[in-house]
Amino acid sequence: MVSWIIASAIATALYILIYYNFLKGVPCRSDTSLKGKTAIVTGANTGLGKATALDLARRGARVILACRSKERAEPAVFDIRKKSGNNQVIYMHLDLASLKSVRAFAETFLRSEPQLNLLINNAGTGSSGQTVDGFNMAWGVNHLGHFLLTNLLLERLKQCAPSRIVVLSSLTYCISRIDFSNLSIAGGGFFRELSNYSLSKLCNILFARELANRLEGTNVTSYVVHPGFAFTDAFRDFRLLIKLVFVPVAFLFFRTPMDGAQTTIYCAVQEGIEKFSGRYFADCKVRKVFPHARDDAVARKLWEVSERMAGLCRH
Ligand SMILES: NC(=O)c1ccc[n+]([C@@H]2O[C@H](COP(=O)([O-])OP(=O)(O)OC[C@H]3O[C@@H](n4cnc5c(N)ncnc54)[C@H](OP(=O)(O)O)[C@@H]3O)[C@@H](O)[C@H]2O)c1
Ligand SMILES: *[C@@H]1O[C@H](CO)[C@@H](O)[C@H](O)[C@H]1NC(C)=O
Ligand SMILES: *[C@@H]1O[C@H](CO)[C@@H](O)[C@H](O)[C@H]1NC(C)=O
Ligand SMILES: *[C@@H]1O[C@H](CO)[C@@H](O)[C@H](O)[C@H]1NC(C)=O
Repeated sequence: MVSWIIASAIATALYILIYYNFLKGVPCRSDTSLKGKTAIVTGANTGLGKATALDLARRGARVILACRSKERAEPAVFDIRKKSGNNQVIYMHLDLASLKSVRAFAETFLRSEPQLNLLINNAGTGSSGQTVDGFNMAWGVNHLGHFLLTNLLLERLKQCAPSRIVVLSSLTYCISRIDFSNLSIAGGGFFRELSNYSLSKLCNILFARELANRLEGTNVTSYVVHPGFAFTDAFRDFRLLIKLVFVPVAFLFFRTPMDGAQTTIYCAVQEGIEKFSGRYFADCKVRKVFPHARDDAVARKLWEVSERMAGLCRH
């Protein structure tokens, strides 16, 4: 009995030690105010996006929740207004799985909003299936939709400089490689299930890098983030059996959405990080990525391929 109590006390202490030192992550300590600034957060109705939007609203920003579902976005708007005491929180329709919807969103936004200082490309999916335009879902939503969105808003970001773009990636980029001859099979192998998702997350990193190169001298900067593993709706599509195992593990070892949002918030508001434009951040620190994710020639080629796929080509 006594040994049981001692053992569970040790286990609990160990868990707390590990959780707070290694798993919880690092908070963004900047107290930058965003009064008078406007931010867009994609996929802000739940998870990391909602936590990010709440933090930006608390700092006084006007926050646009760019979401695909009015039914899911409106309760989030209500909730964020209530928790932040900021009424400048609004929903605008954006379905990143449709290039037409991305264009419509940009048009509406540019017509109705004079300012844009922060663009948070947060929405993400690992689900299978295809977008309206026939791309695999992860590539279409996580990379291409955001690529088009960013390009359509770039002039406004430049006019409102200093401004920032923050792109959500993931550590899973490691297992992916780009094969331009077939963008849907890169990664493959043992991690097949993850491969479309991981490829899109690798593209997120290369996109933020090339974007920073193209934006040099404009006072618009871009950053890419691994948020850490957070317990969000991202795992809603797992099969029941997997969920039974996964949920307790995630509950114990994954971050809360607010903890997972800290590095995104850091990249959005921290003073003095402009010299790291184009770089990858985790736990509120700049991190070095593997060589295949910092290859400028590949990043440039990805940009050109994406321009064509998104119908942005002028030549
Ligand atoms: N959670 C993690 O452990 C983790 C780890 C590494 C990276 N990330 C990245 O962090 C970001 C946020 O993830 P999360 O964990 O917060 O996921 P989440 O809870 O599943 O939220 C994802 C958000 O993206 C939106 N979305 C999905 N498809 C969309 C589309 N076609 N158009 C517009 N919005 C769309 C979702 O809207 P609906 O509610 O309508 O589906 C939701 O608001 C993602 O980019 C993800 O890849 C997360
Ligand atoms: C990856 O995308 C391709 C199409 O581009 C699709 O055929 C395949 O099913 C996708 N894989 C997963 C696991 O979603
Ligand atoms: C791309 O990869 C998929 C999945 O392996 C395959 O079915 C398809 O034929 C490939 N397409 C090209 C153009 O190689
Ligand atoms: C960028 O910001 C610096 C410092 O505020 C300013 O001197 C410079 O003119 C700005 N450049 C552009 C292109 O806006």
